[in-house]
Amino acid sequence: MTDVTDGVLHTLFRSEQGGHEQVVLCQDRTSGLKAVIAVHSTALGPALGGTRFYPYASEEEAVADALNLSRGMSYKNALAGLDHGGGKAVIIGDPEKIKTEQLLLAYGRFVDSLGGRYVTACDVGTYVADMDVVTRESRWVTGRSPENGGAGDSSVLTAYGVFQGMRASAQHLWGAPTLSGRRVGVAGVGKVGHHLVDHLVADGATVVITDVREESVRRILDRHPQVVAVADSDALIRTEGLDVYAPCALGGGLNDQTVPALTASVVCGAANNQLAHPGVEKDLEERGILYAPDYVVNSGGVIQVADELHGFDFDRCKAKASKIFDTTLAIFAHAKEDGVPPAAAADRLAEQRMAEARGGRRGA
Ligand SMILES: NC(=O)c1ccc[n+]([C@@H]2O[C@H](COP(=O)([O-])OP(=O)(O)OC[C@H]3O[C@@H](n4cnc5c(N)ncnc54)[C@H](O)[C@@H]3O)[C@@H](O)[C@H]2O)c1
Repeated sequence: MTDVTDGVLHTLFRSEQGGHEQVVLCQDRTSGLKAVIAVHSTALGPALGGTRFYPYASEEEAVADALNLSRGMSYKNALAGLDHGGGKAVIIGDPEKIKTEQLLLAYGRFVDSLGGRYVTACDVGTYVADMDVVTRESRWVTGRSPENGGAGDSSVLTAYGVFQGMRASAQHLWGAPTLSGRRVGVAGVGKVGHHLVDHLVADGATVVITDVREESVRRILDRHPQVVAVADSDALIRTEGLDVYAPCALGGGLNDQTVPALTASVVCGAANNQLAHPGVEKDLEERGILYAPDYVVNSGGVIQVADELHGFDFDRCKAKASKIFDTTLAIFAHAKEDGVPPAAAADRLAEQRMAEARGGRRGA
């Protein structure tokens, strides 16, 4: 425990990456629940972010993940134009082995104990059905099923938002907000990727895909026979004549090996944490590749779960997600003006919105 405490205290009070408002360590001995709820910021409103259920190698790793992910949510929510701060929770353990109704209910009581400072939702290892259980103990839950007042699957709006980010990239680079006549490679055609392919085909793009799951590829080819499938993401990034690369599988896809091999002029996709390490955004810029920051273009999902808190309305959500087009364009413009990569410009804009909100509160 000494290590965990040292790690939390260091990150909270001394690290430059810190600045979290609150970190709650939760334990329920009866159900075996061990969780960490991290509230990074409530400058813009109640902290909003999902619950990750994952078999972490150590408790320290779990705490570090909660701190990093909650910080990321502050930035994402700020640039999505939401009146929400950033938070995230992690439940330690293998969901396949330890997830029970009793454990989720115990977790719900901890969420409730924060009185709305933190609102939870789904993330890796938690699903709509789990939020339906958690919400029996707390009203500060979103991402529920339609039967429980929720909005259900968020991938439709996530894909729509990514498409808006891609249209903005096309506008910035080629002068028109369309992918018509462009060749777009989509890596991962799961829940988000397959909706994205629909938008691209309807817009007149030539689409190339890859996925490790044969059935995901088959589903696309059955619907759009003109789409071409390649063996893997390595083949996709090297595809001749590719204009846009859309990572829609796992994070970390842009790294020291893939960036030099990319044939595309734009990277814009749904995956979280696409840049494998700090500095990759500069490598992309040096190669003349326009990078639409992941957390900006994939915010359609969080826009949806935030809307659910006010009684879900699809058209209102879609209108909000449409603004991803303007936000992405504004980021490119700031990046050019300030001579920094778009990822840095996005962070600055998010920090500015949070600082203004804090300033406004002081003045009030
Ligand atoms: N679903 C949302 O609303 C949402 C919101 C924001 C961000 N994201 C992010 O977008 C990404 C996709 O989310 P999703 O909900 O579509 O997930 P998903 O699991 O439905 O789809 C991912 C797809 O990628 C494929 N895949 C996995 N590894 C691969 C590899 N190495 N090469 C090629 N394909 C591979 C999988 O087989 C699957 O079909 C994730 O990184 C997720 O965190 C999703």
